Amino acid sequence: VGEKLIPKTGSLLRRFVPESGKAGKIMVVTQKRIARYYGKPLLSSLQKAGFRVSSHFLPEGEKAKSQQELFRLYRTLLALDFERRDMLLALGGGVTGDLTGFAAATYLRGIAFINIGTTLLAQVDSSIGGKTGINLEEGKNLVGAFYPPKLVISDTRSLRTLTGRDFNASLAEVVKYGIIRDPQLFRLLESQAARILARDPKLLAEIVTDSARIKALVVSHDERETKGERMILNYGHTFGHGFEQALGYKHLRHGEAVSIGMVCAARLAVKLELFSAAEAERQNRLLEKLGLPISLSGLKLATHKILCGMTRDKKKHAGRLCFVLPVKIGKVVIREDVPGGLVRKMIEEVGGES
Ligand SMILES: NC(=O)c1ccc[n+]([C@@H]2O[C@H](COP(=O)([O-])OP(=O)(O)OC[C@H]3O[C@@H](n4cnc5c(N)ncnc54)[C@H](O)[C@@H]3O)[C@@H](O)[C@H]2O)c1
Ligand SMILES: [Zn+2]
Repeated sequence: VGEKLIPKTGSLLRRFVPESGKAGKIMVVTQKRIARYYGKPLLSSLQKAGFRVSSHFLPEGEKAKSQQELFRLYRTLLALDFERRDMLLALGGGVTGDLTGFAAATYLRGIAFINIGTTLLAQVDSSIGGKTGINLEEGKNLVGAFYPPKLVISDTRSLRTLTGRDFNASLAEVVKYGIIRDPQLFRLLESQAARILARDPKLLAEIVTDSARIKALVVSHDERETKGERMILNYGHTFGHGFEQALGYKHLRHGEAVSIGMVCAARLAVKLELFSAAEAERQNRLLEKLGLPISLSGLKLATHKILCGMTRDKKKHAGRLCFVLPVKIGKVVIREDVPGGLVRKMIEEVGGES
C-alpha cells in the first residue's frame, strides 16, 4: 500500500513474486476508463521489467462477472499462447478483480494472479481474502474459488479519480473495521474525516493499510470460511443485504446499504443491552460526517420486502438469521437468537415503510 505504486509494478513484481522470473507474458485485465488513467504507466513499467504485456478489456458493471466474459478471456489467453508460467494481472475494482482472479484460478488449472485494486472497495475489501468468482443469472457470486493472488498492490493515488459517491460508499467498510476490531482506526476516522474526504493520499494509505491488515488477520484464521470466524466481517451486512435485495441492487451502493445496516445493527445491540446508546450515536455521527446515509428516507421501501431479502441472504445459518452486534467500539459478538419482532422494529426505525 502506498502512493505512486502503479508506475513501479514491474520492479515490485520482480522483488516480491519469485515466480515472475519464469513468466514471459502478462495479461493486464482492465476496463477502458481505468486504462485511460493508469494503463500507460503500468504497461511501461512491466515492459521495462522485461515482460511481454497484452491488455484485455472488460465491460463496465456486474455483467463483466459473467460466464460469457470469463470464456472470452480464456479464449484470448489461448489465442496468445498463455502458458502455466505466465501471469494474469487485474487493474480495477472488485468486478475486474473477481473475474480475473477466477480466470487465473481455472485457466490451465491455475496460473499466477496479481491484483491491483483501483477502487476503495477493492483496496480495503475485495482484493484481500482470496475470494474470486462470477455471477449466474440466478444470483451474485454463485460460482468461484478461493484463490490468493501472488501480490496485491494498492496505489492510493488511483483513488483520486473515483466518483465522490463510489469513494464515500466504501468508507462504510472502513468504519466497519473500526467497530469490529480497531478503536484507534475509528478515532482516526473521527478526527480526520475532512482530510479523508479530500483524499489525502498519505492518510488514505493509513486507512487502507489498517483495513487490509484487519481483513487479512480475520480471514487468515478462517481462510475458506468454514469456521465462522469471517462472520464478523458481515457487521451491518445482514440488514444491508436485505436493503440491496429489496431494491434489486439499484439506488443504493453496497457501502451505503451497509452504512444503514450498521445503524440498524448498532440500535439492535442497544436494545439488547449489549452496546451503549452513546457509542451507537458516535458511530452514526461518524457515518454522517463521511457522507454516508443513515436512513432509508426517500427510498420508499417496504419493511416486509426487506425482511424477505434478509432471509434470502446466503449467510443465513440453518434457517436462522445471524447478527454481528457491537459490545463496544472495537469489539463485536455474534447472535443468532434475535426475536423477529425486534428486527422488524429496527428496520421501521430507519424508515422501512409498512
Ligand atoms: N472478492 C471479494 O472478497 C469481494 C468483496 C467485496 C465485494 N466484491 C465484489 O466487488 C464488486 C464491486 O467492486 P467495486 O465497488 O470496486 O466496483 P467496480 O469494479 O464495478 O468499480 C466501480 C466503477 O469504478 C470504475 N473505476 C475503478 N477504478 C477507478 C479509478 N481509480 N478511477 C475512476 N474510476 C474507476 C470502474 O470502471 C467501475 O465503473 C462486486 O461485484 C462485489 O461482488 C468482492
Ligand atoms: Zn461489504
